Amino acid sequence: MPVDPLNALPDSLLAQLSDFLESQMGLHFPRERWRDLERGIVAAFRASGYADAGTFIHWLLSTPLTRSQIEGLASHLTVGETYFFREKRSFDIFEQHILPELLHARAQTERNLRIWSAGCCTGEEPYSIAMLLDRLIPDPGKWNLTILATDINPQFLRKAALGVYGTWSFRETPGWIRERYFTTRQDGRFEIQPRIRRMVTFSYLNLADDVYPSLVNGTNAMDVIFCRNVLMYFARKMAKGVIDKLQRSLVEGGWLITSPTDTSNVQFSGLTAVEFPGAFLYRKVAVTGPPAVAAGYQAPWYQVAAIAADTTAESPEPVAFSMAPAVFAAEVLPVTGGEQAAQADAADPCASDDSDMARRQARACADAGRLAEAITWCEKAISADKLNPAHHYLLATIELERGHSTVSERSLGHALYLDPDFVLAYFALGNLCLSAGRQREARRHFSNALSLLRAYPADAPLPASDGLSAGRLVEIIATVQASLPRAQGELAA
Ligand SMILES: C[S@@+](CC[C@H](N)C(=O)[O-])C[C@H]1O[C@@H](n2cnc3c(N)ncnc32)[C@H](O)[C@@H]1O
Repeated sequence: MPVDPLNALPDSLLAQLSDFLESQMGLHFPRERWRDLERGIVAAFRASGYADAGTFIHWLLSTPLTRSQIEGLASHLTVGETYFFREKRSFDIFEQHILPELLHARAQTERNLRIWSAGCCTGEEPYSIAMLLDRLIPDPGKWNLTILATDINPQFLRKAALGVYGTWSFRETPGWIRERYFTTRQDGRFEIQPRIRRMVTFSYLNLADDVYPSLVNGTNAMDVIFCRNVLMYFARKMAKGVIDKLQRSLVEGGWLITSPTDTSNVQFSGLTAVEFPGAFLYRKVAVTGPPAVAAGYQAPWYQVAAIAADTTAESPEPVAFSMAPAVFAAEVLPVTGGEQAAQADAADPCASDDSDMARRQARACADAGRLAEAITWCEKAISADKLNPAHHYLLATIELERGHSTVSERSLGHALYLDPDFVLAYFALGNLCLSAGRQREARRHFSNALSLLRAYPADAPLPASDGLSAGRLVEIIATVQASLPRAQGELAA
C-alpha cells in the first residue's frame, strides 16, 4: 500500500485507523477529527523507524497492540491540555462540600481518603488535589491519603512525576498557590514542593482496558474520582463502559467528577446526578424509593436529579449501586499451585468453604472502602484456613491500602512461603520495595515474577488478579523495570 505521508491519507485508511484505535485505546476520531488523526499517525510513523508509511500503517493494523506500542501511539494521539485548578467550579465544590463531609465522616473512623485522577495528563490536576488536601487537613500525618493519578501517555506521566512547570500551567491559578507550593528554578520554571509531589502516585492505565476496579493496581474503593476532559475523546459506547467501571471503583457514597464537555452524550448508569450551582457531579448512592438525596447536604445548595435512562435501544436501565453481583463476578480467582494449600483443602473441605466465604466478605468490604472490617474478615479467613496463600495475599493488599507496609510485607512473605509460585505476590513485593526505595530487592522480586510468568500463556488470567492476563503483567513489569535506574555493573554490560 503506497502511502505518502506528505499527502493526505485516503479516507478509507483513516476510517480503518479510527475503528482500530477505538477498539485498542478507546480513542474516538470521528470524521471531524480525521486531520488530528492524520497528524498523529504521521508523527508516529516518523518516530517509528519504518522507511515507508504504508508498511508502518499496515503493521499497525495487522496486530493487537502491545502496551508499549499503545504508549508510543498515545504520545502522538492524545491531547495534553491542562492547568492547575482547571474548571475552578468543580474544585470549589470539592473543597467546600465533598471534602468537609468526607473528612468529618472519616475522622471518626479510619482516617483514610482515596482519590483518583483518571486521565491526569502532566499532573496539574492531581497536584491541585494534593494542594487542596494539604490546606484542608490540619494533621495530614494522621491520615492515610491516597492520590492515584493515571494516564495512557507515558511522556505525560514522566513530566508529571518530575513536577516542573512553566507559567502556562498557572494560567488560571491564584498567585499565592505558586508562591506557597512551588520553588522557582534558575531556568525560570516552577518546581512543586517534594512533600506535595510525594502525595501523588503516578501510574500507567488505559481506561479502555478491563483492568479496573482492582486491588492489584489500587483502583478500588475510591472516595472521589476526577475524570475530566477525557471522556470527550471516547466514542459513546466506550465512554459508557469507562463510566461503568469507574462507578464500580467508587465506594458507596463516592463521587465522580467529570467536566461539562464530557457528559453531553453519556449515560451515567449506577450514579445519581447531583446539581450544584454551575455544575453537575455524580454520586454512587442507592436510589430506593423517592428521588435520592445525597446524605449530608443542604437543600438550598443543590437539587438531586436521577439521570434519565438513555432512550437508545442499546442502553440498559440504570443499575442500582449496592454490592452488585458483578462485583463478585470479578472476584478473587482461586489460587492454583501451592501444594500445601491443596493439601489443607483436601483435609478439611468445610474449612475451605468458610474461609472462602470470609475472603469474599473481606474483598467486598475492601471494595467498599471499609478496610478495618475487611481486615477482620481476612483474619477470619486465615484462621479458618491458615494455609491458603490467597488469604494472606488479600490481607497484604488491604494492609498496604491502609498504609501498613510492614504488615503487608510480612503477609506477602507468608503467601510466598505457602505458594512459591504466587506471581502476584512477587509483583506486589516488588512494588512495595520500590516505594520504600529498596530498588535492588524490587528488581529481584520483579525478575522472580517474570520467570514464573514464562509458564503462562500470554492471555491466561493470573490467579487472584481480577482478570489481569499474564502477558499484560509481563508488559507492566517490563515498563517498571525500564524506568528503574540501572543497577551497578549493568552500565558496563
Ligand atoms: C485534555 S487531558 C485532561 C487532563 C485533566 N484531566 C484536566 O481536565 O485538565 C486528557 C488526558 O486523557 C488522557 N487519555 C486519553 N485517552 C486515555 C485512555 N484511553 N486512558 C487513559 N488516559 C487517556 C490523555 O493522555 C490526556 O492526558
